[in-house]
Amino acid sequence: MITHSSYAVEPWTLRETGLKLDVLPQSESVFALSNGHVGWRGNLDEGEPHGLPGSYLNGVHEVHPLPYAEAGYGYPESGQTVINVTNGKIIRLLVDDEPFDLRYGRLHSHERVLDLRGGTLERTCEWTSPAGCTIRVRSTRLVSFTQRAIAAVCYEVEAVEGEVRVVVQSELVANEQLPTMVGDPRTAVALESPLDPEEHFAVGRRLKLVHRTRTSELRVAAAADHVVTGPDGTSTDSESVDDTARLTITSVLSPGNKLRLEKMVSYGWSATRSLPAVSDQVDAALAAATASGWQGLVDEQRAYLDDFWARSDVEVDGDEEIQQAVRVALFHVLQAGARAEQRAIPAKGLTGSGYDGHAFWDTEIFVLPLLTYTAPGAVAEALRWRQNTLPAARDRAAQLGLQGAAFPWRTIDGSEGSAYWPAGTAAFHVNADIADAVLRYVAATQDEVFERDTGVELLVETARLWRSLGHHDHHGKFHIDGVTGPDEYSAIANDNTYTNLMARTNLLAAADIVERHPHRAAELGVDDEESANWRDAADAMHIPYNHELGVHEQASGFTRYQVWDFDGTRADQYPLLLHFPYFDLYRKQVIKQADLVLAMYKCSEYFDEEHKARNFDYYEPLTVRDSSLSACCQAVIAVEAGHLHLAYDYLAEAALMDLEDLEKNTKDGLHIASLAGTWMALVAGFGGMRHVGDMLEFTPRLPEKFSRLAFTMELLGRRLRVEITAATATYTLIAGAPMRIRHYRTPLTVTLERPLSQDIPAATVRPAPDQPAHRRPNHRK
Ligand code: BGC
Repeated sequence: MITHSSYAVEPWTLRETGLKLDVLPQSESVFALSNGHVGWRGNLDEGEPHGLPGSYLNGVHEVHPLPYAEAGYGYPESGQTVINVTNGKIIRLLVDDEPFDLRYGRLHSHERVLDLRGGTLERTCEWTSPAGCTIRVRSTRLVSFTQRAIAAVCYEVEAVEGEVRVVVQSELVANEQLPTMVGDPRTAVALESPLDPEEHFAVGRRLKLVHRTRTSELRVAAAADHVVTGPDGTSTDSESVDDTARLTITSVLSPGNKLRLEKMVSYGWSATRSLPAVSDQVDAALAAATASGWQGLVDEQRAYLDDFWARSDVEVDGDEEIQQAVRVALFHVLQAGARAEQRAIPAKGLTGSGYDGHAFWDTEIFVLPLLTYTAPGAVAEALRWRQNTLPAARDRAAQLGLQGAAFPWRTIDGSEGSAYWPAGTAAFHVNADIADAVLRYVAATQDEVFERDTGVELLVETARLWRSLGHHDHHGKFHIDGVTGPDEYSAIANDNTYTNLMARTNLLAAADIVERHPHRAAELGVDDEESANWRDAADAMHIPYNHELGVHEQASGFTRYQVWDFDGTRADQYPLLLHFPYFDLYRKQVIKQADLVLAMYKCSEYFDEEHKARNFDYYEPLTVRDSSLSACCQAVIAVEAGHLHLAYDYLAEAALMDLEDLEKNTKDGLHIASLAGTWMALVAGFGGMRHVGDMLEFTPRLPEKFSRLAFTMELLGRRLRVEITAATATYTLIAGAPMRIRHYRTPLTVTLERPLSQDIPAATVRPAPDQPAHRRPNHRK
């Protein structure tokens, strides 16, 4: 587990001083670079030691059979797993006959710095080989936001004392040996040698490998080009075989002499294009990157990020760790989605192979809200990916005897990858989550082309699903039975409140959107009767309520179940799913992750203030947070319910999930939803931001520890900055036409000329509810 001292607390960088081999797997995730298309884990340049070597191309996966002990109708037959593609980061070094390997010799210094403004990972180290040669190595790596096929490394080696003969091998390596993974079943299956060679090439300083995955038949190409600068006598040679292409550079360095290598790597893949086409594609991308040059790429990267931070930065005064963590979070969420371009945003981004590289509802409910106000183009692309997968979702619905589209619970290519119905397709809410993301994006951008070409189809097909999945009872009430809500410790429940409320919004929005787009509606075969049925279902949606307790039920009958024996559960028995049978979890009151509490955030207007507080008090002692998706949701409602310190504790849990490796699985990849949840806890929690219709509303409230919270967001062509102190909120329009907002229900118009400052009313502070034994969040001092 990473202890916090692994990283220095600095506002714009993540700095690791010293190399801790035991936390190498975690730091490889934390130092991963990606643009949403290409992902490189933070492996050391020389490849070893490593926790998990990882180079990923979004969408490149292998398929494998899903085994079942007993057959059943409609079970997905094949699963998908992200694969480790050709590694272009490897730069091995031989120092006077001895490999530069930090496990041997003497390491005098080792520092890695993730620069959140520069978008680079820098490494500097000084090392003496077992034979006594001292060298200094400095490398800088980036995965380009501006040229999505490109990653690059600038590598320098310098002699410190005496003359040193060095050999640098810059490589492309396919089918790297991976460590065998054991333990947590959620960890990805490591696939052995998934790539069949098709072409290899090494001429001068250019290298290329083209491979194809065996069963999924995806063609993957990687090419590299180099600029080498060294003292007289420096020579180069290149060679290639099926799985390796290598440039070898030999040089003799006197003290102070440097050998410098600029390596550009381009990647491409395709399920349909021919070998020459994909091969040419990586050559072309490389030509563009070479024309920019290393410094050009570095400058473009910074300019891209300057622009991002101007739109998106969050400033926190009073807690430097949270300040750093929220920027790390924003950076990694951007990396996960920036250039995904009609591919999924996986739960781990492209930082590791956890969850087999699958995307879940995490994308729409946690990641896209942040990106909507900071990088909206990425949201449109992520939703277009969902649209592209509609054929598979329609087939799945038809297979289940349903109408419309049943989007998969977990997937890479759009087909259902979950072999476990109760926490798989039964979590139908993913359909409404997609609809929610569509609505928010359209409300925030008024992107009419997207609404017409993508939004209508997604809303219609998801509404059809709900209408066919649910039914009206003899009183006319509409029920959605036998589904799993966000809490995976309850399954196949009737009328899950979150699902029903989200489906209700989905149905109404579909009925509204077809009125605005009659042509599209006609193309999709929607008639007046169908949309009237959606409205009827929405209006009659049943929301279960326990009158005796005065609380909303997570699902019908939930509050009648026996309460889990929390006092009899030991600390080492969490997460419960690894220690207790699901059947027992399912029939007790025990909650894996925010469910009704999430409903109170997402469908805020349905619940009055009193119920928000009462419901929160009821569900809090039952919620064990065995999912990293929970704390941020609890933070948001804890603020509303008047528990500011508890909200602060939850914010810290979400924010430090990976930096402190709280779930002990950061090595498998980052928890992208929890990172996005850091923004959610700050902006929607302490900022009290809700987007209602086309208007932003704020009910800000700071925890004692913060003296100031400021954030910027974009909406409808405006850029708004919100600055909050204990007593005042100031709204400043930085760009765009006058903007209407609400501050504690008071309507205001913010104009470019005049920031508006408003008082923050005193908070009603309520005694905070307790959590299950051993599952209280760390109390942040
Ligand atoms: C959570 C899901 C989530 C998945 C991927 C699970 O543990 O319960 O809600 O989608 O992880 O992050």
